[in-house]
Amino acid sequence: MREHRVAVVGGDGVGPEVTVEAAKVAHAAGERFGFRLATSDYDLGGDRYLRTGEVLPDAVEDELRGHDVILVGAVGSPDVPPGVLERGLLLRLRFEFDQYVNLRPVRLLPGVPTPIAGLTPDGCDLLVVRENTEGLYAGAGGHLYRGTPSEVATQESLNTRRGVERVARFALRKAAERRGHLTLCHKTNVLTHAGDLWYRTVEEVVAEAGEVTMDYAHVDAMCLYLVNDPGRFDVVVTDNLFGDIITDLGAAVQGGLGLAASGNLNPDRAAPSMFEPVHGSAPDIAGTGAANPAAAVLSAALMLEHLGETDAATAVERSVGRVLPELGAMAGPQMGYSTSQIGDRMAGLVADGA
Ligand code: NAD
Ligand code: IPM
Ligand code: MN
Repeated sequence: MREHRVAVVGGDGVGPEVTVEAAKVAHAAGERFGFRLATSDYDLGGDRYLRTGEVLPDAVEDELRGHDVILVGAVGSPDVPPGVLERGLLLRLRFEFDQYVNLRPVRLLPGVPTPIAGLTPDGCDLLVVRENTEGLYAGAGGHLYRGTPSEVATQESLNTRRGVERVARFALRKAAERRGHLTLCHKTNVLTHAGDLWYRTVEEVVAEAGEVTMDYAHVDAMCLYLVNDPGRFDVVVTDNLFGDIITDLGAAVQGGLGLAASGNLNPDRAAPSMFEPVHGSAPDIAGTGAANPAAAVLSAALMLEHLGETDAATAVERSVGRVLPELGAMAGPQMGYSTSQIGDRMAGLVADGA
């Protein structure tokens, strides 16, 4: 039987709650389609940090590297200073495993309520390809005279030709497989150095291929278009921070953060890729059973796809597509079904041939 080694990092808040459901549905898919997911749980996140002072010991990183994929819930705790876990765990893994693509589909599923009046599923099916190892996330920063009236903080954005080119090539391939259109989202009118590098690089990559059309949107206008006309987009390639921000907006358009999936991909497969919902640890609803596991389950579908288990990925997506409309107008917090009831229903549908 085929076997895939999956490291599971539930993390903080609702992270472990939704990850359990994602693993449950993925296991059901394995049983149906004849493969085994050998899962190992890793205790990482706020609790471990508060207990031991460790965020990600080197030995644990080495172990994670030995897996085929990593399934993550979310990290971030109100009891830990911002950045310690987010940078020390999540960004460290994205960088060290060179997961240079953050793939974030924005898709309105049939029967799922959206806050955008009149929007239908055929008007909202785009793929955000977010650069995941550079930009403001990776640049140097400095602090002077902290806590004084003369305080200065700098935060640089790092953009390399190699980094932009490789993510542009990935986005181009995706556009060629889909509707053949690629939008670059940036802020070239203000960020003239980084914007110039991005524009020229994406334009050159697109021109080489020939079959994909390209356009451009400034990130502020992008926010407008995502709300009033998301149907104009097919694949959107963008820098790290812009991609972070526009995909929370995309999540709202598709019905809520509880529905938005992502994959941190190392397309060269030189290290494991990592799959996680777009949302965070949601401390406001942690422990209440109100977290929608759909985002985590759809992230697991992206994971199965990456593992080559295409039929299983399709079945998992289909189960989510069946269950979400059952939640009605409340496909978010207070949706009327608990996190685990929704996961059970999805797993049941996968097992029964959804
Ligand atoms: P968040 O995404 O955790 O929550 C934003 C809002 O969305 C909250 O109202 C929350 O209740 C709701 N929400 C989130 N997930 C949901 C789900 N599955 N179902 C229903 N509603 C859901 O963002 P935040 O509050 O800004 O951040 C909380 C913590 O999470 C912070 O420490 C932040 O750094 C961290 N964070 C981690 C990740 C990650 O691990 N990938 C992503 C974003 C934020
Ligand atoms: C996300 C999160 C992370 C990011 C944080 C927690 C580091 O917001 O995955 O969208 O900014 O990339
Ligand atoms: Mn984010």
